[in-house]
Amino acid sequence: MKNIILTGFMGTGKTTVGRLLAERDGRRFVDTDEWIATQTGLSVAEIFRQEGESRFRQLEAAAALELAGQEGLVIATGGRFMLDPANALDLGRNAHVFCLTAAPDEILARLRDEIGQRPMLAGADAAGQIRRLLLERAEGYGQFAQVETSGKTAAAVAAEILARTAAGEGANHLLSPTRLPVQGPDGRYDVIVGHDLLSRVGELAAIGQTAVVISDETVGPLYATHLRDLPPTAAPILLPAGEPYKTLASVQMIYGALLAAGLDRHGVIVALGGGVIGDMAGFAAATYLRGVAFVQCPTTLLAMVDASIGGKTGVDLPQGKNLVGAFKQPQAVIADLETLTTLPAVEIAAGLAEVVKSGLIAAPAILKQLETGAWLPAPGTPRPNYHSLCLRAIQVKRDIVAADPYEAGVRAHLNLGHTFGHAIEQVSGYRVRHGEAVAIGLVAAAHLSARLGHADTALQQRLEALLTRLRLPVRIPADLAPEALLRAMGSDKKKASGRLRFVLLRGVGAVFVTADVPQTAVLATLRALAQP
Ligand SMILES: NC(=O)c1ccc[n+]([C@@H]2O[C@H](COP(=O)([O-])OP(=O)(O)OC[C@H]3O[C@@H](n4cnc5c(N)ncnc54)[C@H](O)[C@@H]3O)[C@@H](O)[C@H]2O)c1
Ligand SMILES: [Zn+2]
Repeated sequence: MKNIILTGFMGTGKTTVGRLLAERDGRRFVDTDEWIATQTGLSVAEIFRQEGESRFRQLEAAAALELAGQEGLVIATGGRFMLDPANALDLGRNAHVFCLTAAPDEILARLRDEIGQRPMLAGADAAGQIRRLLLERAEGYGQFAQVETSGKTAAAVAAEILARTAAGEGANHLLSPTRLPVQGPDGRYDVIVGHDLLSRVGELAAIGQTAVVISDETVGPLYATHLRDLPPTAAPILLPAGEPYKTLASVQMIYGALLAAGLDRHGVIVALGGGVIGDMAGFAAATYLRGVAFVQCPTTLLAMVDASIGGKTGVDLPQGKNLVGAFKQPQAVIADLETLTTLPAVEIAAGLAEVVKSGLIAAPAILKQLETGAWLPAPGTPRPNYHSLCLRAIQVKRDIVAADPYEAGVRAHLNLGHTFGHAIEQVSGYRVRHGEAVAIGLVAAAHLSARLGHADTALQQRLEALLTRLRLPVRIPADLAPEALLRAMGSDKKKASGRLRFVLLRGVGAVFVTADVPQTAVLATLRALAQP
């Protein structure tokens, strides 16, 4: 029996109607706010007060994942719960979803006695706040089947929903593509995630001007012809694939090809590929003619969840990773999940390493999701659906880069595992993939954190179990000498006043930056994790 999900603004009767519905239809009733209160022993208002809204949203994500695995439920959701596209995808996948609506005055009348307990209505002007929030959420709520409740009894509303469920309504709300707005330093742009989007890039990214596509020799032949709605454009610029080519020489080659294509200051560069192409094309877009517009079409999981968002671009030097670069915000990021069907499983795994990183930084629900699902495609089986997982990881990155676009503070958290990881990539001559090096780097960060007394050793164990499950490495290859890695770490950018800075962990969702790490401890971690 598919679940029935009720969404809508507070005061539209989700709980009252939901209880009645459950009773009449022999289902179990769950209210997500109550579910969260039971899990945490705190009321919603207390969670907002003590731990902040972002913690509450994490608990909602956990509820979505947990309840999506159950059947025969009526679920009344918090007012913003289903407006999170990842929650809507997970909970709505096998359910009938209805949005209850009511006139603003009726909402105010229904809520009059409990305004004090509603964190979203805090402040003097509750009526004004209700109108503002309704307007803000109109588009989000509008994607679900609507049930008007003004002037109706709860019993009448419940009867209507039962009849409409029996008629199959509410089962196919539009969730693809999903849009996640990112607040960049020079304006807002959208990360659009869905299926079969490449053919609509011109429309979705609002590209009116001449565009030049930059891709690599693997991705270009597979997908460049899918970009059907771009304005007339020159032939794609194709670079050799892989990190060894993320160099100034490649960028110079790009400049030459852009000039040959006649791209002027009003043109736009479209990056079609993984993080290597995105980083280089972005750097070219930041510098060519002192800057032209830029659109990211990531085709690896890693680029979708991480590299394409936040505006960091650049190239490697022989001395180290990403040592030359620029901040360049894209005008849109369009992630077509369909492209993942040709991405080799090792590359999917590499992307999952950055997803694990996001989970460790700020989203315990992501780790749960990874620990329970089957995320690596077995040969010959259909690919898992990465949509909601991608969205959750993107949200972590989005919130951090919006708060700190130029890495003056909290953005450094995204470098968790990367001080070790970059050294491993570089010393291995880029034989070890970025995502794989990050996986080992995350284990190293957990090891070092425990060694310095910040975290429990259980964290490293949990992490190793998860990464191994995702077929990612957790030990440093034997041919990479700890001393060489330590030297390479010395040229990492993440130094402050000559001291190496590390992102360490106290636990899941609790990372911090410190320069207070003795070299002997770093070396001990490198030795402890060296493959025998
Ligand atoms: N700018 C940032 O904020 C940021 C964040 C994370 C990582 N990065 C950078 O991203 C890079 C790693 O990115 P990556 O893992 O995407 O590597 P990548 O770009 O090298 O892609 C990996 C491989 O997959 C191939 N490929 C890509 N899409 C494919 C598809 N759909 N089907 C088949 N093959 C496909 C590529 O040709 C390449 O061989 C690193 O250089 C890293 O430093 C940047
Ligand atoms: Zn990375």
